[in-house]
Amino acid sequence: MKTEFAPSLLASDFSQLKDQIQLVKDADYLHLDVMDGHYVPNITFGPGLISSIRKHSQLPFDTHLMISNPERYIKEFAEAGSDILTVHLEATDHIHRVIQLIKEQGIKAGVSLNPATPLENLEYILPELDQVLIMSVNPGFGGQSYIPQMTAKIASLKRMIERNNYSCQIEVDGGIKTHNLKEVVNAGADIIVAGSAIFGAADPARALLEMRSIASD
Ligand code: DX5
Ligand code: ZN
Repeated sequence: MKTEFAPSLLASDFSQLKDQIQLVKDADYLHLDVMDGHYVPNITFGPGLISSIRKHSQLPFDTHLMISNPERYIKEFAEAGSDILTVHLEATDHIHRVIQLIKEQGIKAGVSLNPATPLENLEYILPELDQVLIMSVNPGFGGQSYIPQMTAKIASLKRMIERNNYSCQIEVDGGIKTHNLKEVVNAGADIIVAGSAIFGAADPARALLEMRSIASD
């Protein structure tokens, strides 16, 4: 399967959002990092911003909720225009219920794991997931370095999915650049999130093309 790309708007220039979104119109998803200053030590944006940029992009919105007790806000983020809602396993006591809430909204459900969270915690929810988001940095900030142990974690998750014939995709988020992209793809990533590697480049559209070509090489 062809590797897909989800540029993260977190690294873009927020004063020019409409134009920044246009620069990555040839991506596969737009990755939207929502942070609440509680679950992670940073604050970004909420459903209001997502619904106002919705009309400026044709891409599916891949919303990554780094918020405590995400069950409180599933409806708002779905109605704002998210096509995929990903919540952190560690951020709720009732992950299975949250997945059900997302699916009731008629959109795709993803679960994210922090670097230290074992894959075993996915065992009983994996059949119901459209995506697992492997965090390859600690959530909260763009521009951090890829944690090398995550390559083995991606590869074991891939085996777990294939062994059971699940349809779930693997998305990897954090510290992915041209130099380590191939390693992440070879380990089994289906979707690559890239913030600073794309929006931090002088020409984001070109950076995306370059990453696509490395992934397919
Ligand atoms: C980090 C976010 C990431 C971030 C990735 O908590 O979830 O999506 O934007 O940024 P880079 O690609 O710069 O590591
Ligand atoms: Zn993210």
